[in-house]
Formats: sequence, C-alpha cells, structure tokens
Amino acid sequence: MGSAAVAGPLTQAVTGPGLPSLPFTALPFTAAEQARIAQATALPRDFTRPQPFEALAGGAGTVAGAAAFSSPLANLPPGEGLDFRGGQALFDRGWVSAPASTIASDGLGPLFNARSCLACHPGGGRGAAPAGPGDLPAALMLQLGVPDPAAIEGYLTAHPDPVYGRQIQPLGLPGQTAEGRPRVAYDEIAIPLSEGESAALRRPRYELAEPGFGPLDEATVISPRIAPGLAGLGLLEAIPEQAILALADPDDADGDGISGRASLLPGPEGQPVLGRFGWTAAQPTLQAQIAHAFAHDIGLSSPLYPEGHGDCTPVQTGCRAAPDGGDPEQDGFEISATALDLVTRHARHTAVPARRDADAPEVLAGKKLFHDTGCAACHRPAFVTRRLPEAPALSFQLIWPHTDLLLHDMGAGLAGGGAGASGQEWRTPPLWGLGLARALEPQAGYLHDGRARTLLEAVLWHGGEAAPARDRVATMPASDRAALIRFLESL
Ligand code: HEC
Ligand code: HEC
Repeated sequence: MGSAAVAGPLTQAVTGPGLPSLPFTALPFTAAEQARIAQATALPRDFTRPQPFEALAGGAGTVAGAAAFSSPLANLPPGEGLDFRGGQALFDRGWVSAPASTIASDGLGPLFNARSCLACHPGGGRGAAPAGPGDLPAALMLQLGVPDPAAIEGYLTAHPDPVYGRQIQPLGLPGQTAEGRPRVAYDEIAIPLSEGESAALRRPRYELAEPGFGPLDEATVISPRIAPGLAGLGLLEAIPEQAILALADPDDADGDGISGRASLLPGPEGQPVLGRFGWTAAQPTLQAQIAHAFAHDIGLSSPLYPEGHGDCTPVQTGCRAAPDGGDPEQDGFEISATALDLVTRHARHTAVPARRDADAPEVLAGKKLFHDTGCAACHRPAFVTRRLPEAPALSFQLIWPHTDLLLHDMGAGLAGGGAGASGQEWRTPPLWGLGLARALEPQAGYLHDGRARTLLEAVLWHGGEAAPARDRVATMPASDRAALIRFLESL
C-alpha cells in the first residue's frame, strides 16, 4: 500500500467550487465478492486459451469494432440512451463566437485550440499526430507550467505561465492577438534490434513560433499532450480507489524495479483526491477533465470555470475585454450545469471495443510475452468496478483496461512536462482499443505527444522503470516481437 506522493509540477491545482466524484452510492464488496474479484483479476498462468470474459474488454457493455468509441455501453438502460445522444451532439458541436443568433452555441474563445471536442478526438478516438516537422495539428497542444520551487513537499503545483496561461491557444477570434504557432522538429535516432532488425525513433523538439506576446517565461516548461481516445472512461472512474492504491509502491518496497505512485491532488476541502485522467492523471473526475477542456481548449465557461475568457491572463487585455456568451436564460455560463452534465455522462457511458482474435495462437503467444517481459507490472490487465446500484451499466463489471492508473518514471527520453520533480512521470495509459486507433484516425500516433508512429516505437521509447522490459523487447527473437505487437493490436 503506497504512501502515495503527489502531483507534479504541471499538475494544476483543482479549481472551481466543488468536485463531486462519482455521483452514485457505492456499496462495499462482501467478503465473498472480494474473493471472486481476486480470482477474476489475478494475473494469468495459462496462456493456451483466453481467460474467461477476456474478449469483453469493457464488461457486459462491450461493443464490437471502432464504433465503440462513439457508442453507448451496450448494457446502458434505454432511458439513458437519449441523454447519451444529447451529450454526443454537444461533443460534436462546432462552437461560434458571441454574440450570435444561436445563443446556445456561442461563447467560443476568445482564444482557443479548436471549435469542438470532436476536432481533437475524432470519432471519440485519439487525435492526429504530426506527419512530420512543422505546425502542430490541433489535437497536439502545448501545456505550460512554471514549477514552484517553494512548493511544500507533497503538493507540488505548477503555476501558469504569467503571460500565456496554462496552454498555448494558437487560434483567436477576429481582432484577438493569436498566441503563436506551436511547431515541432524531429531528430531521428536509430535503435538496433536483435536479428539484424532496427527501428528509427523520432525525438521531438517543440517551439512557439511567432509568439504573439513575446517569448515564453524562462522558467516555463512546455508539456506537449495529444488527445487520447475516450473509450470506457466511466468504467475507469468506477474502479475502486483502494484497488489502484493497493498497486502503488512509491519506494519500490518489493524491489521489482517498478514504483508506481498514485497522483494525489488537493480536493475541494484540501483533502487529497485520486487523479485518474489525462496523461499525468492530473484530473480526478470526468466532470473536472471536461470542464477543463471546455475552458482551456474551446474557451467556454461553466460552473467549474466561471470566467468567460477561458485561459486568458490579465496581461492579455484584448482577450479579457471580449464579449462572452454566458446565457442569462441558462445559468449565466456558456456551458450550463445541465450541458456539462450531459457531456460528462456521454463520456462516462462510452463503450469499449471488444477484443479481436483473443484466441488466435499468435495473439496468445504475444500475451504470454507481454506478461513474461514485465509489461503487466504497469499495464495491469483486469479490474472489477464498484457496486453502483444507481448505475447498473458501470456496476460490478470485470474490465480489461491494461493500466494501473499510476504514475511511473519513464526515463529521460520521455521527460518534458510530465509529473514529478523530474517531469518524466506519466500515467500508464489504458491499452484497450489500441489496435483500432488508426481505423478512427489514420494519422493517430502513440505516447503522450504522438511521437511514436508504430506500437513498436511506443515500446522502444519506454525507459526508467520500464527500461528492463524495453531491453527484453529489443533483444527477443524477431518472431516474438511480432507476436507481442500482434497482441497489442488485438486490444
Ligand atoms: C484542442 C484539442 C482538444 C479538444 C478541443 C478537447 N480535447 Fe479532450 N483532450 C485533449 C488532450 C491533449 C488531452 C490530454 C490532456 C492531458 O494530458 O492533460 C485530452 C483529454 C481528455 C480526456 C481524458 C481522457 C483520459 O484518458 O484520461 C477527456 C475525458 C476528454 N479529453 C474529453 C474532452 C471533451 C468532452 C472535450 C470537449 C468539451 C474535449 N476533450 C476537447 C485534447 C482536446
Ligand atoms: C513502468 C511501467 C510500464 C511498463 C513496465 C510498461 N509500460 Fe507501457 N506505458 C507506460 C507509460 C507510463 C506509458 C505512457 C508514456 C508516455 O506517454 O510518455 C506507456 C505507454 C505504452 C504504449 C502507448 C500507449 C498509447 O496509448 O499511446 C504502449 C503500446 C505500451 N506502453 C506497451 C507496453 C509494452 C508492450 C510493455 C512491455 C514490453 C510496456 N508497455 C511496459 C508504463 C509502462
């Protein structure tokens, strides 16, 4: 059990009046249920056939194919289906500037990254990565943070850049000074593999070209982040906290070289809350993550971010002075409490794709390698969600996300605005749906900034705690490497 340390330099202090976690009553597991859960989620020993229910990655609500990323959980009660479609419409909606005749769709900006959620999460999947050097696609944003040297040990927080705020918004409404053009250049690194094979990794260098308000503060750290796929997030939110904390081992007490730590964030009353969402687990709930996206990515206020000017700092006076789209007929926010709730429930109830070919011999061989190589130490295969009588679709589901939702030191190669003092800690991402990313967005990339063009490249970037696992992949027989990748594609 971890004495779970806390959020890193780019973790934002949670803002807003209050942060309800899952708004449902959770029943404790009985002793008999706990025994069943331990058995169902134990690491496998028999690799000759799939484990029971393994193909149903998202439990009973699993949906076949890439459509899962924009479909409701199959076991969602019919009454909830209508709200899912309502949330989907808001997710897809392209926002316009205020004042507009369509009051319900206005309030965009003044500065923004994109006009809709869909623009960065196409089909609910991960966003397009850069094909090569040049301007960044919308889905790859530059977050900003100034680490606080005076932060008390424990809650390390980062301040926004004094001029540019929490992230670069490359777009602005007419009349606004745009913040600049985020760009990337790549250096190729050749990686020799066994049997004469090799791989080429592209190491990114980011810069803000044509900065609209002068150069970035010297102390500001840039943290590139690409939009992840949005499958099964309500199920991740429903994993019992204790199940995640039980996997944390911040001081590596068991000496296995893997020391995940929980992302603990300051909650509304100062009590720590568990972060789960985003590449650094910097957001505790889907509602918090989504309100943050509305405010920072699209420039829309909501009850959690009441200011109409989004991420504009006091220095950005033109932006502060722009009209806002708060609708007095609603509750005065550009995104009303009702709209925020609809979009949150949409994300919470989005399905997970079924495994493909989980019983194919090469996939089973790859699964064995995944376990033998040490991948499952962080990419924890299975959990059982809380018992939630009011949310039957999310309740007591055996799910296969392949993540521990903990932060891991991934080494200097992946440093740059991650969590922790070193900026090289990242949350283990869920791997479900990985093999369908390209079906939704042909230009999809892997890792927190989409730098990996293939799954093998993603694995070869692993360092730090995962360096031994990476080395095993580089030196294993080429046919084993192919089987391991085949397993990842089946997820
Ligand atoms: C400009 C691109 C962009 C837009 C627009 C955008 N997102 Fe995202 N989204 C991202 C990025 C980048 C991340 C990762 C953030 C991080 O690591 O801090 C993310 C993360 C998320 C997550 C967390 C997923 C996880 O696996 O933890 C959710 C949920 C989400 N976005 C929903 C939305 C919704 C709903 C909207 C519309 C209100 C939206 N996003 C708009 C880029 C975008
Ligand atoms: C020490 C924990 C740890 C181990 C061990 C580990 N991973 Fe990861 N994995 C991570 C983290 C953290 C990331 C995200 C890193 C980033 O985005 O910079 C990640 C990312 C990935 C991704 C990209 C996912 C995405 O959504 O883009 C793949 C694929 C992956 N891991 C596969 C593997 C495989 C295969 C192994 C075993 C050879 C392995 N991992 C071992 C922690 C681990």
